[in-house]
Amino acid sequence: MSNTLSERLEAAPVVPLIGENDAGRAVRTAEALAAGGLTVIEVVMRSDDAQRGMEAILAETEGLIVGAGTVLTLDQAKSVRASGAEFIVSPGLVDEIALYCLDEGIPFYPGTMTAGEVQRAYTLGLREVKFFPASLAGGVPMLKAFGSVFREIRFMPTGGVSAGNLHEFLALPHVLACGGSWLTPKDAVASGDYAQITQLASEAVAIAKAAR
Ligand code: 3PG
Repeated sequence: MSNTLSERLEAAPVVPLIGENDAGRAVRTAEALAAGGLTVIEVVMRSDDAQRGMEAILAETEGLIVGAGTVLTLDQAKSVRASGAEFIVSPGLVDEIALYCLDEGIPFYPGTMTAGEVQRAYTLGLREVKFFPASLAGGVPMLKAFGSVFREIRFMPTGGVSAGNLHEFLALPHVLACGGSWLTPKDAVASGDYAQITQLASEAVAIAKAAR
């Protein structure tokens, strides 16, 4: 299996979000995603227990690249980094987090939805950004417009991406990968239906292969 984050995203350009509070369920969800072929995973920091879930995935699984999402402050970025996060995702662009990640040499995907935000990310030295919330921020037409002016930037649309529209986002050459929570439905995680999660991951891998 390829090792770097970019090689993994090249092979399977989909980043599932895990938002589970229970560490055991977070680990089993990550394993189910990996079984379906998705090995780059974003654990979103939306509860007090989320970081423990990410730590458990890092400690108890092998072969995954695990990052932290919904990172809002520099202190939080430092904390998830100390826990082992291999990349950081934010809903918006905060310069001090960007500069910290560039200094640490780890990928940072800040949410952007306007040309000004993309340009600020570019000026800070970033060449990959999240496009969030993708469906509300203009979806594929907006990304096409961005692609024609930001030649060096690659985008990770997240927010409203699903199996239904994954193909059209991934068909754009400047889309690095798509992120989303559709791969980890709350009811499947809560009921322990990990087979469904593996199935959704496999389906996303097949869509990605057809799109690229
Ligand atoms: C995010 O954190 O990027 C979004 O909340 C994910 O959006 P989704 O739930 O529509 O995939």
